Amino acid sequence: LRSAGGALAVTLESAPGQVTIAGRTVRALGYNGGTPGPTLRVRAGDTLSVSLRNGLTDPSNLHVHGLHVSPENNSDNMFVTVPAGESFDYQYDLPANHPPGVYWYHPHQHGFVTDQVFGGLFGAIIVEDPDPIPADRERLLVVSDITISSAGTVPAATSMEKMSGREGELVLVNGQLNPGMTARPGERERWRIVNASVSRYLRLRLDGQRMTLLGIDSGRFESARDVEEIVLAPGNRADLLVTGASGTSVLRTLPYDRGSSGGMMGGGFSPATDDVALATLTVAGETADEPAAIPRQPTPRDLRSTTVTARRELVFAMGMGGMGGGMMTPTINGRVFDPSRDDETVQFGSVEEWLLTNTSPLDHPLHLHVWPMQIVEQDGQAVETAIWQDVVNIRARSTTRVRIAFEDFSGRTVYHCHILDHEDAGMMGIIQAR
Ligand code: C2O
Ligand code: CU
Ligand code: CU
Repeated sequence: LRSAGGALAVTLESAPGQVTIAGRTVRALGYNGGTPGPTLRVRAGDTLSVSLRNGLTDPSNLHVHGLHVSPENNSDNMFVTVPAGESFDYQYDLPANHPPGVYWYHPHQHGFVTDQVFGGLFGAIIVEDPDPIPADRERLLVVSDITISSAGTVPAATSMEKMSGREGELVLVNGQLNPGMTARPGERERWRIVNASVSRYLRLRLDGQRMTLLGIDSGRFESARDVEEIVLAPGNRADLLVTGASGTSVLRTLPYDRGSSGGMMGGGFSPATDDVALATLTVAGETADEPAAIPRQPTPRDLRSTTVTARRELVFAMGMGGMGGGMMTPTINGRVFDPSRDDETVQFGSVEEWLLTNTSPLDHPLHLHVWPMQIVEQDGQAVETAIWQDVVNIRARSTTRVRIAFEDFSGRTVYHCHILDHEDAGMMGIIQAR
């Protein structure tokens, strides 16, 4: 669905339904009967209106992940609850300088987020480039994972899965198992990849083809760079170009070590150790004409030359207690989420530096709403160029440093771990900019 005349108005209805996955009929969730839901295409300066109808039996709501829009009123307000059977009209006004790229939407009702996203409630939002990047074709690959019981339902998570972050047995692209794609040699394709998995990290390879990364999340590099591998934490997106070379190539996700909770208690969790085929690209036929050069992108803003007005530290830990017998509770600064408490108050217009310390044996991908983060130091190492992301992974027992400009919008919103089981367990805080 594409905006016209500066506006796009859509209705999204979340509801349970029958979907076909790998030839099986499954009772899962979807927006407007599909997983993923409709793709919403807008431009900077547009107004996106979404009428959300909650056809679930639980409360829900909507979040536009990564969009730089107001967190107040009926915009991206995290304190709206839409009870089962009711509706809510959201309106998002994108600023005229909104960065182009791939974003996504999903429910954000605390305590229900993981079940609803894992069940199939998510979709992509594309903010078009003001000057299109020359490509022969564009593809959207929304990657998710799901587990299907023998009864054809999505089973409830175990307490171990909730503690470590559930990973589904099947990894899907646009709701399908290993879909096929075709291209001609020399063709350039624009791929937008969304990691909509609730806990699974993707470590993507496409051996035999050339992958050129334009950016991650809303961040774009000044010059696109050739890469062999792309790591996407839950919630991250990649914007890339694939140049076809004759042959058949499999887009795979390789095992990613996001730590282990094995040492924390009896049993323990083992992260996915398999190498999964996500999609297959067959490149054959007559060689296409050489595509036009990739235009240079604007130099990314670099907050390292800006005066920092405040510093704060967030400590991510797995603490004892809570969640029942012997389980560990994920915390930020020793606390679990309390919707009535403002954890951090920042001054509107300020630039802050946050030291993110992860003392736990698991990675935690930090996501901040509304304001993007510039990574200045990752895993204790200074980064060379300005990288802007809205989900920043903090490796197990490591530190990361980011800078944030609290501008354009004031208001109250959240930051949290994007391993959604952790978010539902309370690894989330409230931030108020005023
Ligand atoms: Cu994608 Cu607060 O979430
Ligand atoms: Cu978000
Ligand atoms: Cu976490």
